[in-house]
Amino acid sequence: MAQMASFALSPSCFGSFTAAASNKASSSSSPAAFKPLKLPLFWPWQKVKMGPLSVSPMGFGTWAWGNQLLWGYQESMDSELQHIFNLAVDNGINLFDTADSYGTGRLNGQSEKLLGKFIRQSQVKNEIVIATKFAAYPWRLTPAQFVKACQGSLERMQMEKIGIGQLHWSTANYAPLQEMALWDGLVAMYDKGLVQAVGVSNYGPKQLVRIYDYLKDRGVPLCTAQVQFSLLSIGDDQLEVKKICDSLGIRLIAYSPLGLGMLTGKYSPSKLPSGPRGLLFRQILPGLEPLLTTLGDIAEKRRKTIPQVAINWCISKGTIPIPGAKTLKQAQENLGALGWNLTQEELNLLDNGAQESPRKMIQNIFQTR
Ligand SMILES: NC(=O)c1ccc[n+]([C@@H]2O[C@H](COP(=O)([O-])OP(=O)(O)OC[C@H]3O[C@@H](n4cnc5c(N)ncnc54)[C@H](OP(=O)(O)O)[C@@H]3O)[C@@H](O)[C@H]2O)c1
Repeated sequence: MAQMASFALSPSCFGSFTAAASNKASSSSSPAAFKPLKLPLFWPWQKVKMGPLSVSPMGFGTWAWGNQLLWGYQESMDSELQHIFNLAVDNGINLFDTADSYGTGRLNGQSEKLLGKFIRQSQVKNEIVIATKFAAYPWRLTPAQFVKACQGSLERMQMEKIGIGQLHWSTANYAPLQEMALWDGLVAMYDKGLVQAVGVSNYGPKQLVRIYDYLKDRGVPLCTAQVQFSLLSIGDDQLEVKKICDSLGIRLIAYSPLGLGMLTGKYSPSKLPSGPRGLLFRQILPGLEPLLTTLGDIAEKRRKTIPQVAINWCISKGTIPIPGAKTLKQAQENLGALGWNLTQEELNLLDNGAQESPRKMIQNIFQTR
């Protein structure tokens, strides 16, 4: 029961969020004697097995935590990011996605550094699963260099072992020899006990099966595959990857589940974010209105919000979404994607809306077939 209480959130979190932090909310004007009924966002049996690990049905992505260029990160945001982390953990979230390349310029590795710091200051260190990604930089040409990259991440996070070590992308399209070094690097870091499980990111269906077989022959189970998966990034490749994951016992992690923010309903062709995202959104947002209207209608009917519906759609498709959040309000809202399920009829409406959208998200340039 005590464990349950540790990730309890007031029932208001199942609907739209208006309040700020949970810790601020608890000091509201309600009489101290009145304690509203608290329900967990998910039950312990709804946790998801990832190889030897057990994770929450949704994780948090941390690409923005250190990235100035695309996400406008500033170090003054760190205390709010720590509140985001604490809020997530308090509500049972134990999966955090990061990468050794997250953080721009002098802030390289900042996302891992922040996560390491937040974990050290947290009460539930041992339950947190960090999924980090190792970049296939052109100078990382041998398995030993990938092991060194893994040690670099461990150092930044001040940890002894990483939960899931993932290859950030495949080099099969442009440097097939390096690809072998990546794969052997994963084997080596697993054999040395530096990672508890291994995964890949931006691998298409064919390359996914190849690496799965290669690792299996070496006694290393491939536990996760991460692809861009959202109402703006759903097509034959994503469906095929999902099918393969299901048949091989690999968990599919859905990255950019909010289409970098386009599936929140707050942007429009006349209200674009600054920086490179604005350029991308300018291409995609015109024509997105019918899908956003469907999302809005469902959200209104269910007393949810558009981001909550978009994230819940990913969960309903059997993936583990890792939405990014830059503010406490966003984090709180995104947590409300848990604890309820879209109906089949609502899913059909959303699937149709996605299919009919004239423009989709561009795929990662390193995404393989
Ligand atoms: N493997 C890969 O190659 C790869 C690639 C991309 C991402 N990822 C991982 O996936 C994670 C999530 O993807 P993402 O961060 O690219 O995009 P996303 O989750 O689709 O969108 C996140 C952004 O949307 C906005 N947002 C989030 N929640 C919101 C809410 N409730 N209301 C309004 N706005 C909200 C915020 O940006 P604004 O407030 O600025 O709009 C936030 O940074 C990343 O952090 C990273 O860990 C992996």
